[in-house]
Amino acid sequence: MASYDVIVIGSGPGGYVCAIRCAQLGLKTACVEGRETLGGTCLNVGCIPSKALLHASHQLHEAQENFGKMGLKGKAPSVDWPQMLAYKDDVIAQNTKGIEFLFKKNKIDWIKGWASIPAPGKVQVGDDVHEAKNIVIATGSEPSSLPGIEIDEKIVVTSTGALELGKIPKKMVVIGAGVIGLEMGSVYSRLGTEVTVVEYLDTITPGMDAEIAKSFQRLLKRQGLDFILGAAVQSVETTRTKAKVSYTLRKDDSTATLDADVVLVATGRKPYTDGLGLDALGVALSPRGQIETDTHWKTSIDGIYAIGDAIAGPMLAHKAEDEGMAVAETLAGQAGHVNYGVIPGVIYTHPEVASVGQTEEQLKDVGRAYKVGKFNFMGNGRAKANFAADGFVKILADKDTDRILGAHIIGPMAGDLIHEICVAMEFGAAAEDLARTCHAHPTFSEAVREAALACGDGPIHS
Ligand code: NAI
Repeated sequence: MASYDVIVIGSGPGGYVCAIRCAQLGLKTACVEGRETLGGTCLNVGCIPSKALLHASHQLHEAQENFGKMGLKGKAPSVDWPQMLAYKDDVIAQNTKGIEFLFKKNKIDWIKGWASIPAPGKVQVGDDVHEAKNIVIATGSEPSSLPGIEIDEKIVVTSTGALELGKIPKKMVVIGAGVIGLEMGSVYSRLGTEVTVVEYLDTITPGMDAEIAKSFQRLLKRQGLDFILGAAVQSVETTRTKAKVSYTLRKDDSTATLDADVVLVATGRKPYTDGLGLDALGVALSPRGQIETDTHWKTSIDGIYAIGDAIAGPMLAHKAEDEGMAVAETLAGQAGHVNYGVIPGVIYTHPEVASVGQTEEQLKDVGRAYKVGKFNFMGNGRAKANFAADGFVKILADKDTDRILGAHIIGPMAGDLIHEICVAMEFGAAAEDLARTCHAHPTFSEAVREAALACGDGPIHS
């Protein structure tokens, strides 16, 4: 059996990025993956396929809502669902093959199969035991359902089943108004499904800046999504083709039911570490099943590291990627680092929602003196031209020093716009630094500059 400097277990964004960086830094590297294709949840059944369906369904929405206004006439497109799924599968294949190519290019061995760690320094795959100076666990997460709800991935589905439904349902109930629920709820709503989102808390997207969440819910409602908030789902009963969702309203304990053709359970994810043999090894886990690590991603056992969804922190592909690079750098004797204060979060609905740093609520909680600079896309020429003037940019800056503490955007290309603020925050910039930076006209990014101006003497276009 071969002997390696590093064996990475799992080829999702955390694992494959870690493996590539290890190889680039001169370490002999292998990556174990049991799926047929590389890329983990993100590329196979997560970020990438959902973005394909979001893109396709958004194009349909544009054709239905805006083409006529722009003088584009003709028969409205209809949905060929098998073709849409084929397009999504093609996008997956292109991306997963891309990782395979990168592995070959960087001389990374793909060990096919499911790994366990019989002892530090050893990785077993099937009957083979491979030696590794260091092991990086990047096994990700899996959907966590609710007690008593059985997932069949046909009528009661997780995000995985929601990406390959046999047909577009007439009625869908989404349990959980988090990222997955709202992204996939948006897809089906645009495709004509009646979507009802049932959420336990009194707001959607818990943890998001409250003003943004309120505006987001209003815009989603306008697009046709229904919300039942403050409702705890008790059970889901299924027949051969239908489901009945029972919930209790927390404010008065009343109960009610909803009928659906499909129920999407989107109530969070949990670390996936099954079969690795962590208990026998004595790797410490948190009560929530996350692998515990020190600040250099080392587990309680020397030579075994862990990154991504399997450890604490936001379950985001790019957080896992950053940790993957940082571990690789650490193993190569460099100073790997992740700035957890500047990790953007994006919801790829339309409009997109993006945030980084502190929310207004967090700043209030810690008693930090702050100021708010806000700018509506209504004052942005490009947004108006593109029928994308809903939403706003909100920058939070220290009241005295003007240092940017957080930013929250709902609007066109929010997921891209957020990054100039991320860079600014990495450099410890003040809002004035953004405000004094020339932004090309006409771009959506002018709204970011205007929000920065609003932290000072005021924006121009409002
Ligand atoms: P989530 O944690 O974002 O949202 C789950 C929601 O379900 C919460 O609002 C919660 O209050 C609610 N909930 C829990 N139990 C409930 C019950 N019994 N009845 C009604 N509501 C209930 O989880 P989600 O959407 O499943 O996503 C999982 C992970 O994947 C998240 O960490 C998310 O960040 C990540 N993800 C990120 C994406 C992105 O960055 N665009 C896309 C998809 C997933």
